[in-house]
Amino acid sequence: MTLYGIGLGPGEADLVTVRGKQLLESVDVVYSPGRLSRTVALNHVPESKIGDLEFPMTRNVEKLRAAWKRAAAEIAPHAIDGDAAFVTLGDPNVYSTFGHLRRTLDAFHPAVDVEIVPGVSAMTAFATALGVEVEAGAGLALREAADGHAPTGPDRMILFKVTDAPSTHERLVEAGYDVKFGRRLFMEQGETVITDDPSELAERDYYTLAYAEKRGVTTESATAAFGDGVADGGHS
Ligand SMILES: C[S@@+](CC[C@H](N)C(=O)[O-])C[C@H]1O[C@@H](n2cnc3c(N)ncnc32)[C@H](O)[C@@H]1O
Repeated sequence: MTLYGIGLGPGEADLVTVRGKQLLESVDVVYSPGRLSRTVALNHVPESKIGDLEFPMTRNVEKLRAAWKRAAAEIAPHAIDGDAAFVTLGDPNVYSTFGHLRRTLDAFHPAVDVEIVPGVSAMTAFATALGVEVEAGAGLALREAADGHAPTGPDRMILFKVTDAPSTHERLVEAGYDVKFGRRLFMEQGETVITDDPSELAERDYYTLAYAEKRGVTTESATAAFGDGVADGGHS
């Protein structure tokens, strides 16, 4: 049978895909890597269907490897005798824990079939939430900016894991970027904050991203001129 890697979307219950919801309802057991994804999954399945996994809060590679081996050993029999799901926030293939599980299963439990159901990623949801249009032809790069880091280079960047917004902001502004932040976007848990003022985000919250755009960067779309008041010049 199959292990389904299911993307839950950014957090609101009705932003899971129809396919993801149907599979969550049909599998025998649902595993989640964290408390937040568990809470979102509970919108769709009863608590009795949630499987237990434990992950240590550590960056120690040996301990993490051991934890993923234990997780794979717990999940594998359920995905061989029946159908199981492993949920992640956003999309399972975007900066996600699901990759660790898939690699561990491939190495130690190759009999498990894996299928992935994509989800609405923060990588796309940010644009609507922050009122940003990524126009056709525009370049956009993904980066991580934990602990005050501020990667630079591309004209437009989405920055994940922005845990120290004031420091990241200061460095990016110095490097010539305009920055907007989004915290807990399309999420039912916790307060959603959308701002260009980093002092509103002084408290650390892992579920924070930023969009950084180099000042003065432009794109040449066919309708761009409408924004320059052409419609006020006599056309109605
Ligand atoms: C490990 S990555 C997971 C990304 C996820 N797989 C996705 O596709 O959206 C976690 C980072 O994604 C960003 N993120 C995920 N969901 C978010 C949300 N609802 N609002 C704001 N940022 C979010 C945050 O920057 C967070 O630190």
